Amino acid sequence: MIDFKQKIAEQISKITNILLEEIIQYIEIPSNEEMGDFSFPCFKLAKELKKAPQIIAQEIKENIKLEKDFIQKIEVVNGYLNFYIMPQKYISNVLTEVSNKQEDYGKSTIGNGKNIVIDYSSPNIAKPFHIGHLRSTVIGSAIYKTYKYLGYNCIGVNHLGDYGTQFGKLIEGYKRWGQEYNIEENTIDELTKIYIRINELCKENENILEECRNNFKKLEDGDPYCVELWTKFRDLSLKEFQKVYDLLQVQFDSWNGEAFYSDKMQEIVDILNKKQLLKLSEGAMIVDLEDKEMPPCIIEKTNGSTTYATRDLAAIVYRARTYNFEKNIYVTSYEQILHFKQIFEVAKYLDLNKKYTDGLIHIPFGMVQLKSGKMSTREGNIIKLEDLLKEAISRAEKIIDEKNPKLENKQEIAKKIGIGAVIFNDLYNSRIKDEIFDWDTMLNFNGETGPYIQYIYVRTKSLIEKAGYMPNISEIDFSKLEDTFSLRIIKLIYSFEDILKQSAEKYEPYIIARYLIKLAQTFSSFYNENKIIGESKAIQDARLYLTYSTGLVLKIGAKLLGIDMPDRM
Ligand code: ARG
Repeated sequence: MIDFKQKIAEQISKITNILLEEIIQYIEIPSNEEMGDFSFPCFKLAKELKKAPQIIAQEIKENIKLEKDFIQKIEVVNGYLNFYIMPQKYISNVLTEVSNKQEDYGKSTIGNGKNIVIDYSSPNIAKPFHIGHLRSTVIGSAIYKTYKYLGYNCIGVNHLGDYGTQFGKLIEGYKRWGQEYNIEENTIDELTKIYIRINELCKENENILEECRNNFKKLEDGDPYCVELWTKFRDLSLKEFQKVYDLLQVQFDSWNGEAFYSDKMQEIVDILNKKQLLKLSEGAMIVDLEDKEMPPCIIEKTNGSTTYATRDLAAIVYRARTYNFEKNIYVTSYEQILHFKQIFEVAKYLDLNKKYTDGLIHIPFGMVQLKSGKMSTREGNIIKLEDLLKEAISRAEKIIDEKNPKLENKQEIAKKIGIGAVIFNDLYNSRIKDEIFDWDTMLNFNGETGPYIQYIYVRTKSLIEKAGYMPNISEIDFSKLEDTFSLRIIKLIYSFEDILKQSAEKYEPYIIARYLIKLAQTFSSFYNENKIIGESKAIQDARLYLTYSTGLVLKIGAKLLGIDMPDRM
């Protein structure tokens, strides 16, 4: 596909003698289409060229050699040079590219040879997989898929919380009352009950607390009984979490959780010690971060046990060595902003190549606010994610029953709609914003929602079905797409790859989500304003191909967010 921006930049660079990279950076896409397709702010060069912006603009305009190629006109407005691309060039370019690339449309190779580690989901063993973990899972997975599409080699890591003194307690509780609980069936619920019960006992009896600590010590030392129980808790918990991952179709390349680093933390302690960075403070070993205006990073607690932070430091070193990462991205709620700031600071002392410490990135997201009374909650107000996703599916099924009761494969389609609605709702706003969880909003087929995008996609499918054929690209007369909405759709499809790059660069899936809404809405206007089937064959062919292209891009974009398209709904 012709990169119009690049071509324009090359010319400007030649005329002004300023580096191409700099020019490219300055070129904008005006938000108002009347201001052209690309715009160059000449005042950015005024200082460098020692000329007034107006004069620079005139000079570029007079010397540029693109007119006959693809530029319709160039206008000078207030120091801006506005470029208008010939509609026919846009159309032929985009549709030919769609035809060549098909399901790979928008794919890129910019990431080839670069490794990106993405740490997401990362729930805690024997504890509920809560709605915050859902956000981490959904956002992390979308970022993972987007980077992969751009050619990066992605390593998705589920950094499970499978380590810590609570396992000493669980082992003690299970030893005492294991028979009373059915942890095979309802793993997390039952383990939580055991945990609460043993905690109460510990409060009454200091000796039992000591037993729990001993168990943890034994676990660390590889005692067979303790390891066996820990493994059982872990396996059963993962089996339960897997149900959520299956519903969301999320995958990981590594399940190395915190316990994996139990034998890799000594090295961290040694390095920090050798550099005399470890200080004793109130019985704990800390790295002072006062000059960075942060509270200290605790490396070893008063009782000598290591911390969440120490395991994360060991993980950074391990990942640098194992994956030679360009970026190591962490997706968690904003509650952990300080934690990551601290460990990224301490990581700078660990003799790693600067490439690695520069590549450490925390991607925080906001909380989920539930619209109270509308969601079934279990005791303790903890919503089980599997139940939540199942509720989404059954609500979608109910809507189908009302709208289209004769639909075949109702359950499978309800699954796509329900899960799609939850995922889209999670990704529609800038991630740092708190998310409002409201069933009616997210399942509204006419809103800015997942089901809306699916609905428009299905419409593109049924239009092609109704026509009964797919026109061949070589026979399409591009000049038949004359209306404003056609051209808007074409321009949106043209910008798809750029949207993916922006989304990846900012770690913001909402950029894709909003783009898809805009594309769907524009298609809806196009459809309302134009007859697709029944015009002359030439017009019908051109419009059908545009319809097909829209559906294709909606499908690819949704897939990157983790949303599947139904063929009917
Ligand atoms: N298990 C943690 C939690 O539930 C999240 C872990 C995030 N990843 C990490 N490497 N610290 O809050």
